[in-house]
Order: sequence, then C-alpha cells, then structure tokens
Amino acid sequence: MVDDQQPLVEEHTLDRDCTTLSRHVFQQLQSFSPEAQDLSALMNRIGLAAKLIARRLSRAGLVENALGFTGDMNIQGESVKKMDVYANDVFIAVFKQSGLVCRLASEEMEKPYYIPENCPIGRYTLLYDPIDGSSNVDINLNVGSIFAIRQQEGVDNGDASDLLQSGRKQIAAGYVLYGPSTVLVYSIGKGVHAFTLDPSLGEFILSSENIRMPDHGPIYSINEGNFWQCKESIRDYIRYVHRHEGYTARYSGALVGDVHRILMQGGVFLYPGSVRKPEGKLRLIYETAPLAFLIEQAGGKASTGTHNLLDVVPTELHMRTPLVIGSKEDVELVESFIGEQERLEEERRLIAAQQS
Ligand code: AHG
Ligand code: MN
Ligand code: MN
Repeated sequence: MVDDQQPLVEEHTLDRDCTTLSRHVFQQLQSFSPEAQDLSALMNRIGLAAKLIARRLSRAGLVENALGFTGDMNIQGESVKKMDVYANDVFIAVFKQSGLVCRLASEEMEKPYYIPENCPIGRYTLLYDPIDGSSNVDINLNVGSIFAIRQQEGVDNGDASDLLQSGRKQIAAGYVLYGPSTVLVYSIGKGVHAFTLDPSLGEFILSSENIRMPDHGPIYSINEGNFWQCKESIRDYIRYVHRHEGYTARYSGALVGDVHRILMQGGVFLYPGSVRKPEGKLRLIYETAPLAFLIEQAGGKASTGTHNLLDVVPTELHMRTPLVIGSKEDVELVESFIGEQERLEEERRLIAAQQS
C-alpha cells in the first residue's frame, strides 16, 4: 500500500516543479487557440523581463552604474534612477521582434514607444511601471514592476487615444515583487496566481494558485507622514485605527510590496488625495488600474475613495488617481469616512446657501 502510493507523491512534486508561467496560461484558458498562444507568449516575455531585472538588482551593489540617479527628471517631475531606465529598456528589448506588442507605455516615457515592425500584427499594448518603489533601490529593499496588457482598438494615428479607457479593458495584469525571492503575480481574469523564480532552473514556477484574500485584515498601510496634508476624512480614519484594537501599520515605500502583503494577509493600502493634490500620487494606467484588476480577481476591492477604481476613465496617459485597495470590509470602512465627510461638506454648503 505504502509502495503503491510513493510514485504518486513524486508525480505531484514533479508537477508542482513544472508548472511554468506559459503552461499555466494554457491551462487557465483550456485552449491552444491563437489568443491563448499570444497570452502565453506575452506572459513568458514579461517573465523574461522580470528575470533580467531581478538579476541586475541582485548584483546592483557590485555593478558599475547600476545604482543612483541619472540626473534627469521624468514626465512626472520625479528624479529618474539608473535602475528605472534599465528596467524600462528591458521591457522594450524583450518585446522587440516579438510580433506581439506594437506599443509600450510606461511611467518613464512621456509618449508610448512604438515597435513599428510589430505593428501590423502586434495587437497588444503593454503598460508598465518598470521599477515601483524606486526610493528602495539604493538601500537594497523590496521593489517591484507593475504591468497590464490591453488589446489595441482601431487604428492608432499616433495619439494612442484608445488607451484612454477604463481598467475594465485590461485583459491581463500583475506585478513582480523583487524581494528575498522574486515573485510574479498575475491574472488573466481567471483568478490570481503567484509564481516564484527558482534561480536554479531560471524559471518562474507556480507557488500559489487561486489566491483569495480575506474580507478583513489587521493591516493598514499609509504614509502617515502626510497626516498634516490629509483631508479630514482620512485623518478621521487614521484616528479611528489608532483608537481601536486589532490594527497594525505597515508601509514599505513600494506599492507592490505593500499590496502583496495585503493580498496575502488582508487589510488596506491607501494613497489618498490630499488637500493640495486631490488626485494623489499614483498613476492610473500602469499602477492603480492593474493592481485593482488583480485585487478584484482575488475577492478584494479597489476604490478612489468614492468610485470603483476600474470604472475611472483616464483623460491622459499619466493621469493620477487616489487609491484605497485591499480587503472589501477595510476598503468600505475608509469609503465610509470619505462619504461621511462629503455629506457634512454638502450640508454646510446648503446651510451657507440658505443663510446668504
Ligand atoms: P515609483 O517608484 O514608481 O515612482 O512609485 C512610488 C510610489 C509607490 O511605490 C509607493 O507606494 C509610493 O510611491 C510612496 O510614496 P511616498 O514616499 O509619498 O509615501
Ligand atoms: Mn510606482
Ligand atoms: Mn516607477
């Protein structure tokens, strides 16, 4: 009996060791159709980009010109790091001559990058944040890459206007977390799955399938140093968690790491709008919308504080949105504080109008 079962155990181990990213896409779609081939190849290329970036990050302190600033500013008005440029170029390089992607749009490029030789056939656009959490790069803390894939719609006359659509147009999204191990988390609209890079194989291997996040968790993740410039509703929320048992604060400075923790353990991440910057800091197309897609697929919720984040239609490529993302109940609690404040402000406006 024991002997009979032994091969089964080994088979299971082997299977677990062999579920690569490209194979997983086929399994998910239960098809070898041209669309499935495309998606599988796209994910495989993203995996290759992640491996190249992980390799450079793991040796960055030993490599000349890997760390520090370039001296340039990007379109966001933020100082660019050498690793931002490297990672941005890696994604372009892996999609050149892929026949898959005609355009790439990223945080580091004012306009989309076109790969003309792919364009007649390459029907997909890659949207990405090559290095998320750049401030962590020089001190060897976790950083990430965020990506989304959209299908090109209609003819692009050079303005990429079809990209100005809501996050519901994403056909795949995910992130790579460069931490103690490199983890790639993705969704093609059929649940959320995590792959861990096995350095001895040089392959991403399935490590958690169909991740479901709890409806509530203990973590709240916000830069409380911004308290002075927070709107009253967010201050009220922060006061609430300070005064109630069961909450714990975590904030790493890299959205990918903070959202990954919340995906696995529950809780809420917030980068709200402030009085001076009502739109917040994070960008919709390649930061908040991909993460919103993923978190919804895991049973969580993503909001601007007042609207479902996936319904937001950008007015420009680099548009920013406030972000409240995580476990359903925790996101709804934050929304309730924002809603209450809006109600009070409306009431005050009405009273002032009546008195004048
Ligand atoms: P990026 O490095 O791509 O510009 O993103 C940084 C983002 C995000 O990763 C993080 O959550 C947030 O900025 C941190 O901002 P603060 O330093 O303002 O808290
Ligand atoms: Mn970022
Ligand atoms: Mn970035």
